[in-house]
Amino acid sequence: MRTTVQQVRDLKSRGEKIAVLTAYDYTTAQVVDRAGISVILVGDSLGMVVLGYDSTIPVTMEDMLHHTKAVVRGSQKAMIVADMPFMTYNISIKETLRNAARFIQEAGAQAVKLEGGVTVADKVRKLVDCGIPVMGHIGLTPQSVNQLSGYKIQGKTPETAKKLLADARALEEAGAFAVVLETMPTELSAYISSKISIPTIGIGAGAGCDGQVQVISDLLGLFTDFVPKHTGQYARLADLISDAVTAYGRDVRQGTFPTAHQSFTMDETIIETIRREDENP
Ligand code: KIV
Repeated sequence: MRTTVQQVRDLKSRGEKIAVLTAYDYTTAQVVDRAGISVILVGDSLGMVVLGYDSTIPVTMEDMLHHTKAVVRGSQKAMIVADMPFMTYNISIKETLRNAARFIQEAGAQAVKLEGGVTVADKVRKLVDCGIPVMGHIGLTPQSVNQLSGYKIQGKTPETAKKLLADARALEEAGAFAVVLETMPTELSAYISSKISIPTIGIGAGAGCDGQVQVISDLLGLFTDFVPKHTGQYARLADLISDAVTAYGRDVRQGTFPTAHQSFTMDETIIETIRREDENP
């Protein structure tokens, strides 16, 4: 049985911190799931760390469905939350419901995530009424990078901080089961966390949140185009992979790979027979 919405809520009630991590493929999902991460987010960050775009904006429904299906296949215990791509939940409630339903019905996710607060609360309410759990996402919302004029810390002024508190309350009121707080002052995220009953999942929002989320490619030191300040780098896989691939290339060029260990043999008399027949037709 996968982690449920109620179990995520209960973690906050018990004061237990919630670890969330992204994954985008079958193999990584297996490792993350077996490591006991209770919520896996198939983030649209895949646009940058998997597909090589310079923002999350070009990511499509088809991209997200494709990767969500792989993550679902690779996991058994974690709740899978799929990110709704740019403009797939903004045009109308009807379109929002249709798109969200595809993540649950076709891809096998248990919940969707969407960016925004007060402005998307009506969509969140409708999704929840239809039985689709929703994780909110406020603060630095990468799909709005053009409107925000860059990836900047949010909520530093009284007005913007009050707006983020109102956004968090609107999501709670609309029935979201959790909300991501991205790139905002620690004091503000701690205050928001103390004022709403649903778990807050921080990224670049300090230790006062009820849980944390990280992009796995950052956490593993695999994505090296840039390292966001909020990254907890627990490994340097890009260096490890580079060393391994360089050694492989060298061994192939030197003829030291493959060895007998990676090879298969056959009865020598068979190859002798083939040689005789081939050379004396
Ligand atoms: O797309 C993503 O990975 C996210 C997390 C950074 C919260 O939205």
